[in-house]
Amino acid sequence: MEVKVFKDYDELSQQAADEVINLVKQKNDAVICFASGNTPLGTCQWIVKKAMTEKIDFSKCSFIGLDEWVGISPDNSGSCRFFFYENLFKPLQMADAQIFLFDALATDLNNECRKMDNVVAEKRGIDLMIVGIGINGHIGFNEPGVDPNLLSYAIDLHESTKAVGQKYFTGATELAQGITLGLDHLMNSKKVILMANGKSKSEVIKKAIKESVTEEMPASIMQKHKNGFVFIDEEAASLL
Ligand code: F6R
Repeated sequence: MEVKVFKDYDELSQQAADEVINLVKQKNDAVICFASGNTPLGTCQWIVKKAMTEKIDFSKCSFIGLDEWVGISPDNSGSCRFFFYENLFKPLQMADAQIFLFDALATDLNNECRKMDNVVAEKRGIDLMIVGIGINGHIGFNEPGVDPNLLSYAIDLHESTKAVGQKYFTGATELAQGITLGLDHLMNSKKVILMANGKSKSEVIKKAIKESVTEEMPASIMQKHKNGFVFIDEEAASLL
């Protein structure tokens, strides 16, 4: 694992966007997995800007959504699906056939998980995963204490995830479960970039990358990834 510290959020976002753009230049059918949330928003915006100015063709790429809030409708602006369509898929004019997202309204969540695992297998793995980190150390919805050997699964969310998650929604929203790619997918991805910005992430970043690898701090598994990178701004790096 390598840690890269950038001046501020904009520089961090540009660098992460460059990783995606350079990958697609080298491999036009790249398989890319993204988290949603506040952290990757700037990255998505830079990808779109750079794709337009550099005329990058995304039409052969595949995009996999890292996770979703179970039971939240796709037209809810707080859903991960909504985030991806607004910030990435529509601006890049991506076709539905390139997009692989969990169906949060599926009655059989286990089947949703197996479908996603099959997508990853059929595509021969994920080339690049860009993930965030929760203040409780989660990646995707891999909450503290979770088995790191899992593929995709549904999970009861931790209280802090339900509380912090309210920031994505316009009104108070009941959040109970999440559906997510497990950490086994992360460890098998050819490259992973964990991003974090701001003072509020400095404590968890210190725990995740400076302390021991433990299931109680899911993001600490990044330390074991052979091609894992932690991209942070100076504020998130302030306790290192
Ligand atoms: C969202 C996701 C979450 C977030 C994390 C940080 O798809 O996977 O694990 O990455 O909660 O969220 P932000 O970026 O909003 O601070």
